[in-house]
Amino acid sequence: MQTAEIHRRWLTFFADRGHTVVPSASLVSDDPSLLFTVAGMVPFVPYLTGLVPAPYPRATSVQKCIRTLDIEEVGKTPRHGTFFQMCGNFSFGDYFKEQAITYAWQFLTTSEDDGGLGFDPHDLWVTVYEDDTEAREIWKRTSGLPDERIQGLGKESNYWSMGTPGPAGPDSEIFFDRGPAYGQDGGPATDDDRYVEIWNLVFMQWLRGESIGKHDFEILGELPTKNIDTGMGLERVAFLKQGVENMYEIDQVRPVLDRAAILAAKSYGADHDDDVRLRVVADHVRSALMLMTDGVTPSNEGRGYILRRLLRRSVRSMRLLGVEGVTFPELFTASRDAMKAAYPDVATDFDRISALAYAEEETFLRTLTSGTGILDTAVEKTKKSGAAQLAGDTAFLLHDTYGFPIDLTLEMAEEAGLSVDRGAFDALMADQRARAKADAKAKKTALADLSVYSAFRSLGETVFTGYTELTTESSVLGLIVGGQSVRSAATGDIAEVILAETALYAESGGQDADAGTIVGPGYELEVLDVQKPIKGLISHKVQVTNGEVSVGAPATSLVDADYRRGARQAHSGTHLIHAALRQVLGPNAHQSGSYNKAGYLRLDFSWNQALSPATRSEIEEISNNAIRSNLEVVTREMPIAEAKAMGAMALFGEKYGDTVRMVDIGGPWSRELCAGTHVATSAEVGIINLVSESSVGSTNRRVESLVGIEAFREFAAERALVSQLTSSLKAPRELLPERVAELAANLKAAEKKIAAFEARAVLDRVPALVAQATTSGAFTVVAENLGTVASTDDVRLLVTTVRERLGGGPSVVALAAIVGERPVIIVATSQAARDAGSKAGQLVKLASGVLGGGGGGKDDLAQGGGSDAAAIPQALSAITGAIAG
Ligand code: ALA
Repeated sequence: MQTAEIHRRWLTFFADRGHTVVPSASLVSDDPSLLFTVAGMVPFVPYLTGLVPAPYPRATSVQKCIRTLDIEEVGKTPRHGTFFQMCGNFSFGDYFKEQAITYAWQFLTTSEDDGGLGFDPHDLWVTVYEDDTEAREIWKRTSGLPDERIQGLGKESNYWSMGTPGPAGPDSEIFFDRGPAYGQDGGPATDDDRYVEIWNLVFMQWLRGESIGKHDFEILGELPTKNIDTGMGLERVAFLKQGVENMYEIDQVRPVLDRAAILAAKSYGADHDDDVRLRVVADHVRSALMLMTDGVTPSNEGRGYILRRLLRRSVRSMRLLGVEGVTFPELFTASRDAMKAAYPDVATDFDRISALAYAEEETFLRTLTSGTGILDTAVEKTKKSGAAQLAGDTAFLLHDTYGFPIDLTLEMAEEAGLSVDRGAFDALMADQRARAKADAKAKKTALADLSVYSAFRSLGETVFTGYTELTTESSVLGLIVGGQSVRSAATGDIAEVILAETALYAESGGQDADAGTIVGPGYELEVLDVQKPIKGLISHKVQVTNGEVSVGAPATSLVDADYRRGARQAHSGTHLIHAALRQVLGPNAHQSGSYNKAGYLRLDFSWNQALSPATRSEIEEISNNAIRSNLEVVTREMPIAEAKAMGAMALFGEKYGDTVRMVDIGGPWSRELCAGTHVATSAEVGIINLVSESSVGSTNRRVESLVGIEAFREFAAERALVSQLTSSLKAPRELLPERVAELAANLKAAEKKIAAFEARAVLDRVPALVAQATTSGAFTVVAENLGTVASTDDVRLLVTTVRERLGGGPSVVALAAIVGERPVIIVATSQAARDAGSKAGQLVKLASGVLGGGGGGKDDLAQGGGSDAAAIPQALSAITGAIAG
C-alpha cells in the first residue's frame, strides 16, 4: 500500500466519523518554545489547553513533523526519521478513552477491502500506563486482546507531553510484532526493534509544569476538558504495509537511497556501514527538502542551523561512500519526485529550494577543503610536539567554525595516526549546549502569561471593523493591569483593553499597529500598541490619559486617520515592490519578511547577491509606473485552495486559515494573501522612493522605501541639499559632480605642495643644528631640544639628515622634541661612532628612562619617549654624559 493511500484512508476514516479535516501546518511552529512542529498536536495546543475555544469538537490531520533529537540513530534503526508524518485524530472535550481506543482498533484491523489497514490482530500488542486500569479494561473489551498482550508500563514510556509545560496525559501505545527473526519474545516491554510502535493514544487530561528529574514533572491542574490526541506514524505503518525492512525503503524515501547508491557505485544491502550512510542521506535530503519548502534557509542558528546540519551530514555521508563531488542536483531531484504527489509545493517551488541546497553543498565542499587545511596544520604541530592526541579545542573549532562533524575529525585524525582529546571536546560542546539552552529558556513565553486572555477569548473573537471604518462604537470586555484582570483603570495607568469590536489594526503580517485613541463616557485612552496575544483576540495597550475606565463601559475606538493613510500606502507599496522585484529578478525573489508603518516599509527577500544600481532603479521605476497606472486594489475572501489556484502568493511562516483574504493590485499583477489594510487604487500610494538596499545574512537582501508624503519629503530634503551646494560651489546642478571632482583634485595638489614646503621648512633647521655640534672625546655630538614639532617623522628626518651632514667621523645626533604634548627622543649614530662603542638603542633607552618612559631600537637609529616633557634637558644630558664617559 502506497504511503499516499494510507494517508488518504486515514483522513477518510476519521472524516466519515465526524472529524474536521485540518491541513498540515507548516514545519515551522508558531509556538515560540518550539523550533519545529514535533507532533501532530502542536497546531492544536491552544485548543487542548483551553486557551482558545476549539472551532470543532473533533479533528483529524496528517501533520508534517521534524525531530532531530535522535539524529545519531537515523539509519541505524528501522524507524528513526528526522522528517516524518503523523496521522492524528483529536477530540476537544468530545469523545475520550473508549471511543479513541475503538477507532484505533477498528482502523487498524478492518480489512483493506473495507477501507482499513487490514492488520492481523495476532500481530498487535498494546501498552498502557501502569495505573490506568480503565484503559486496560477498555482494550480487553473492545479488542479482545489477551491479558498478556496488554502490558502496563511506567511514566517514562506511557505518559505523554511535549517535554515542556503544557497539556499531558497517560497514553496507550499500539505495537506491531515483526516476528522472532527481529528479536526476542516478551512484547514491547523488552524490544523495540521487533515490536514497532505504530500508534500512540494520549488521554490528555492534565496541565503539566516544569520537569522534575528525567521522566517526571509537576502537575499544575486538570485541563478544562478531557481531550484525545493520537499519533500514528505514517512512515512506520508504510514500511510494515509495504513489506520492507525500514522507513528508508518506503516509496517516498527509497528513490533517494537508490540514487545515492548509483552515485556511489554501491549496492544497497552489501555492507552494513554503507547501508547506514545511504539511509542517512535518504532521510536527511528529504527532511532538508521539506524544511526549505516551508521557508527555512541554512544559517548558523536556530532552525537554519538544524537544516545546515542535515545538509552537511548528507554531504559527509556521501563522501564516506566515496563520492567527493557535487551530489545534490541528483539527490534533491529524486526526493522532489518522490514527495511531490503528497506536497505539490516541493515541485512548484523547486527552483528556489534547489538553488539554496546546491549553494550550500558547494560552500560546504569548499569549507571541507579549508577545514582540512586547518586540521593538517594542527596534526603537524601535534606530532612535532610529540603528543599523540589532537587538542579538544581544535576539534571544537573545526566543528563550530567549519561545520566539521566530530566523526569527520576523528576519522581524519586517525588517518594521520592521532587520536582526539574527546573529553575536552565534549566539555566544550556541553558548554555550548548549556548556553543555547539558557538562550532558549529565556525566549519561552510562560503558558501562565497567556491564560489571562482565555477568559476573554471564550467570549468570541474580537471583531475587526477597520477595513471599512475608522471609528467603531463598542464596549470594554476586559482590562488587564500587570498581567491581572482588573475591573477598572484610572488616569496615568498603563493597561490592556479588550473590546468586543475595534477599528484599530493589531500588528500582524508585517504591518505595525495603528495609532489612535479609545474614548468613552468620562475617560480617554491613548493607544500605545495593538497586538493579538492569542489567536482571534485583539488587545490594546493604552495609557489612561483622562478619567477612569471600567469593564462594561461603552468604548469608541478611533483610528488616527493620518497614520492609517500612511500605513495603507506603505503596505500597498510593499506589495508593489514585491511584484516589481519578481518581475525583474524572477520568481525566486520570494518575500521572506517585511515591516511597514506609516510612510516607511522594508521588505526582505531571498536573493544572494547585491542588486546593481541599474536593477534597483528598474524596480523603483516599475513600482512607480504601477502607481501612475492607478491600478485598482481589490480584496476578496475565499477558500485558501481557490486563492492558491488563482496564483496568490502566500508567505512563509504566516498562518492561514481555511478562508483567506486575497489582495489584488491590478488583477493578477500583484496577488497576495494578506490581512493588512490597503489603498483603494495604486495612485494613492503617491511615490515610492527606494532609499536603501542591503544584505540580511548570506541568502537574503533587504530593500527599504519611503512612500507618500515621506517619500516626497526625502526628495525635498535632497533638493534643498543640492541647492545649498549649487550656491556654495557656484555651479549649476548638472555641473556639481564635475565641480566637486575638480575641487578634490585641486585639494590633493595643494596638499602635496604643502607637504613639500613643510619638509623644506624642517630641513631649514639642519644648518643651525650642525652648527651646534660639540666635540666630546673622539665624538662629534649634536644633542638638542627641538621644542614642539608636528610629527615624529620630522624629528627622524632631522636626525638622519644632520648625521649625514656631520660626515664620516664618529658622530652621535640626539634630538628631543614634544609631539602631541609628549616627549620624543630619537638618536642616530654614524658607523664610526658605533665602531667606537656608541649605540643608538642604548642611548635612547637611557634617555627614555629619564623621560619616564621606554624605548630602544637598533644600533644606528632608535626612538623612545616618555611622559615627562620637562625632563628633556636631563635626558639629553644623560646622553652627552654617557658619550663623554
Ligand atoms: N502527541 C502524541 C505523540 O506525539 C500522539 O506521540
